[in-house]
This record gives sequence, C-alpha cells and structure tokens, in this order.
Amino acid sequence: MISFHTNHRLLLVAPALTFALLTTVIAILPAIYENRLYPGDPDRKPLPADVARGRELYIAEGCSYCHTQQVRVDTRRPVGPDGRFPPLAADARWGRPTTPADYADQDPPLLGTQRTGPDLADAGGRLPSPDWQFTHLYDPRLVVPDSRMPAYRWYFHTGDERAEGDREVLLPASVIEQKGKGFRVFAKRDAQALVAYILSLKTGTVPPARSGAAPK
Ligand code: HEC
Repeated sequence: MISFHTNHRLLLVAPALTFALLTTVIAILPAIYENRLYPGDPDRKPLPADVARGRELYIAEGCSYCHTQQVRVDTRRPVGPDGRFPPLAADARWGRPTTPADYADQDPPLLGTQRTGPDLADAGGRLPSPDWQFTHLYDPRLVVPDSRMPAYRWYFHTGDERAEGDREVLLPASVIEQKGKGFRVFAKRDAQALVAYILSLKTGTVPPARSGAAPK
C-alpha cells in the first residue's frame, strides 16, 4: 500500500501532477480546441478612431455593468440548417448568437455579466438612428419614459451653447412638443464617439466567420 503519510516525495509529486493534469484538461486543451474551431479574421482592420474612443468611454462609464454583449446559444437543441445552434430562447430577440470570433482582438472583451438593460451585441442593427441614440444618451426618459438608465448629460450642450465640433441632435417630435421649440441639444465629440461605437455593434448583417458551428 502506498503511504501518503510517510512518503514526503509522494506527498509533493502526487498533488503537483494532479494539478498539471487538471490544468491541461480544464484550461489548455479547451483553449487549443477553441482556437482551431474559431480562427480570427486575418483581414480584420483596427477600429476607426472615433469608434475606439467610444469603446474607451463605454468602459470608463461602466456601461457593461448594466449591458451584456453576448447572445447565448442553446446547445441542448439540435443545430439548424446552417449547421449552428439556435440562440437561447431568452436571448433570441438580441440577434444571432455571438461567437468567440466576435471578441477576437478585443481587449478587454465586453461580454458583461448582468442585463439591467438590453443586450447590446446588435444595438447598432436594432437601433440604427444616431439621433435616437443621442436623445436616449442625453436623457433616456425622453424616449423611454420608464427607463432606469442614467442620463449622460455631460456629453451634451443645451440651449445656444454650441461649441466647435458639436453636432445638433435632431430631437423626436414628441420631445420638442414636451420641451418647447427653443429646446436644442448638441452632442459633444465624446457623445459622437460613444454613439459611433454603439452603432458599430452589429451582428445581424455580419455572418460569423466559420464560427458558431457545432463541434463535430
Ligand atoms: C444602471 C444601468 C445602466 C447603465 C449604467 C447603462 N444603461 Fe443603457 N439601458 C439600461 C436600461 C434599463 C435600458 C432599457 C430602457 C431604455 O431603453 O432606456 C437601457 C437601454 C440602453 C440602450 C437601448 C437598447 C435597446 O435595445 O433598447 C442603449 C443603446 C444603451 N442603453 C446604451 C448604454 C450606454 C452607451 C451606456 C453607458 C454610457 C449605458 N447604456 C449605461 C440601463 C443602463
């Protein structure tokens, strides 16, 4: 009988080997497998400057504490005709399931963990109007009356305060009616970057590069 109690070499080597084995099985092999299954896109271009700036602001403002960017697959159901698993029923309205390729080159990837607000993986596809996005960012309750999202007013000027580089927001008729004709909102450069980033989030029109395929 092997005695763990008395053999100090065994006491050291056995846990070390177990640790190495588990690390290989749980972390290293799956990573190699995933990398083969979802190769990155070699033609991927770096983000345009304004989108990259918007992404930085998205991180700085903590938008991802309330918004995910991950549409989950339902691997319990059979794969569809396209050879991919369908989205989880609860996630179907947020677009096609996201895949590891969608997060390639993202540092950090912004999957998020909690959905206080909707998933934004396809926010640009779902809500493509920049003016809606500006109005919503300026004050969510102007367009979604019962919204719990904070207002990000410091990215805007109001009244006649327009400054160099500002963009006037085309307010929805309902907002003008509510606030009066004199009410004008100008989006500062950072608001424009943030909205450029949100509008760049599109999964609907971009087919995933060989990804989302069911493992053989
Ligand atoms: C405290 C949580 C919270 C934070 C932080 C937050 N949001 Fe939201 N967001 C919400 C909620 C709740 C909604 C749904 C109601 C609405 O549309 O306003 C929402 C909706 C949205 C929508 C519309 C999505 C859709 O499909 O209707 C966008 C776009 C959005 N948020 C972007 C942002 C951005 C950009 C930031 C960071 C600057 C941010 N949110 C920060 C809670 C949050």
